[in-house]
Amino acid sequence: QGITIVGVPMDLGADRRGVDMGPSAIRYASVQEKLSMLGFDVKDIGNLQVPTPETYDAGENQLKYLSEITSVSEELTQILDDIVSDGRFPLVLGGDHSIAIGTVAGVAKRRQRLGLIWFDAHGDLNTADTSPTGNIHGMPLAVSLGIGHPDLVNIGGFAPKVHPENIVVIGARSLDEGERQLIRDKGIRVFTMHDIDRMGMGRVIEESIAIVTDGTDGVHLSLDLDGMDPKDAPGVGTPVPGGISYRESHLAMEMLSNAGILTSAEFVEVNPILDRKNCTAEAAVALIGSVFGEKIL
Ligand code: ARG
Ligand code: MN
Ligand code: MN
Ligand code: MN
Repeated sequence: QGITIVGVPMDLGADRRGVDMGPSAIRYASVQEKLSMLGFDVKDIGNLQVPTPETYDAGENQLKYLSEITSVSEELTQILDDIVSDGRFPLVLGGDHSIAIGTVAGVAKRRQRLGLIWFDAHGDLNTADTSPTGNIHGMPLAVSLGIGHPDLVNIGGFAPKVHPENIVVIGARSLDEGERQLIRDKGIRVFTMHDIDRMGMGRVIEESIAIVTDGTDGVHLSLDLDGMDPKDAPGVGTPVPGGISYRESHLAMEMLSNAGILTSAEFVEVNPILDRKNCTAEAAVALIGSVFGEKIL
């Protein structure tokens, strides 16, 4: 199968600068070589153009860089739709997690129902009203559910992109009050770190696969590297202790690969400035290997 890589050097959705270099760091960690070695036909179409924050006004405090993020998301939606239409597997490299607004819109466009796996320390279920920061990278899952500013919710010309019953969040350990409320209201299945500790990652993934494949015709993996423990992935802007271990995250990817359910994926929030010798980008590439079938033996 063909894989098309696209980088989105986006840092307008987060407070910490440097996450715009994530795509370069992941490429430097040899993502293309890894996938070619695994036998895939890999095409890297480069990066989207993203405005530099210094040259724009952040605008409204509770939705920083709304108009810039909206236009990048529209463009990303179109590109992703084209990749899917070509029958290729889109692999998106971030960039902060606000890029998921465009990715999810693009991969949902031609599907009846999309399953969504949100691997993250956070819920990313805030709106302008509930966000403690006004940073849009804390909002993309809410936006994909059709909740939030209309400019974001209506990207790609349709909403919602996903339904609550087809979503799982894995690795949550930092949720804001408004996010907890939304999780309860919508009945979203969230596997917190507590659940992972108790059930083990194996069972969490088995249950997750059942949820995201029930009645769906595609599954997107949105993987925020801060879902991993900061000991294993320190190069992220919003680290939270007590996360998913290196081995647990690999088990998760290997099980998803064996299930053969994924139709698109993105790896976000890698910040090389905050990293230790590019180990977070290297972890991302190792996980990408597992997603695409790399085996120890
Ligand atoms: N919940 C916090 C906020 O809304 C942090 C979000 C972090 N999101 C992320 N994609 N790293 O600002
Ligand atoms: Mn629908
Ligand atoms: Mn996060
Ligand atoms: Mn996130």
